[in-house]
Amino acid sequence: MMDILMNRRTIRKYTDIKVDDILLQEILAAGCRTSTTGNMQVYSIIITRSEAMKKALAPLHFNQKVVTEAPVLITFCADFNRFNKWCLQRNTEPGYDNFLSFVTASIDAMLVAQTVCIAAESKGLGICYLGTTTYMANKIIEVLKLPKGVVPITTITMGWPAEIPEQVDRLPLEAILHNEVYSDYSKEEINRYYSEKENRSDSKQFVDENKKETLAQVFTDVRYKKADNVHFSKILLQVLKDQGFMNQ
Ligand SMILES: Cc1cc2nc3c(=O)[nH]c(=O)nc-3n(C[C@H](O)[C@H](O)[C@H](O)COP(=O)(O)O)c2cc1C
Repeated sequence: MMDILMNRRTIRKYTDIKVDDILLQEILAAGCRTSTTGNMQVYSIIITRSEAMKKALAPLHFNQKVVTEAPVLITFCADFNRFNKWCLQRNTEPGYDNFLSFVTASIDAMLVAQTVCIAAESKGLGICYLGTTTYMANKIIEVLKLPKGVVPITTITMGWPAEIPEQVDRLPLEAILHNEVYSDYSKEEINRYYSEKENRSDSKQFVDENKKETLAQVFTDVRYKKADNVHFSKILLQVLKDQGFMNQ
């Protein structure tokens, strides 16, 4: 298991071999053994296999090629709808129409998503997360017919790998770790911790291609721009209101 975790990489190209339904069910069942808040399982999992649904979802994932090329897409949703219905049918009033409950259900959804990924990777499958799910949650809600109480949190693509890309870097572990209390970063530490990433040839190429001075500028000016973040935040906040998570 440690080898699987240490050697994994995101896979964005898949063979034509189908992901067998029984195998997928096994992976999803293993994923659902992950920890879940109060054992409430406040999440739902939506499987997309049909070409028609992939085509409908593709533009909502900014037409990333992996969406139509992958045999399976799986969208993980924060879901209090089912739990609320159970409460109402059992003579009690649910109190989950608030932001905390959204965060609770999102945590549950991400935990199950990541456990499904590990289960899939342990079987030799490849996965790619799609962060576009939270950007376009309003439209994904329409396409996937998500009722009130349900918000899409993340999507993964899954299939048999047709590539073994180079592993990408990670910050050194010491950059992430704090002992007992948070130890804030000096300028020198920031320089040291980011130097390996900045000195990689692919990073330098990225900076040149985008005509930037630093790698950080590629993030702030190209990949994750403030204007986009503000725009998609507004949409997501509206989604939380519409889906009934901002009432208290
Ligand atoms: C929440 C989340 C959203 C992501 N969104 C995308 C995406 O939209 N498209 C994509 O190609 N990769 C996406 N990724 C994959 C990351 O780019 C990838 O994990 C990262 O570059 C590290 O590469 P590795 O997984 O191969 O180690 C996402 C990953 C996460 C965790």
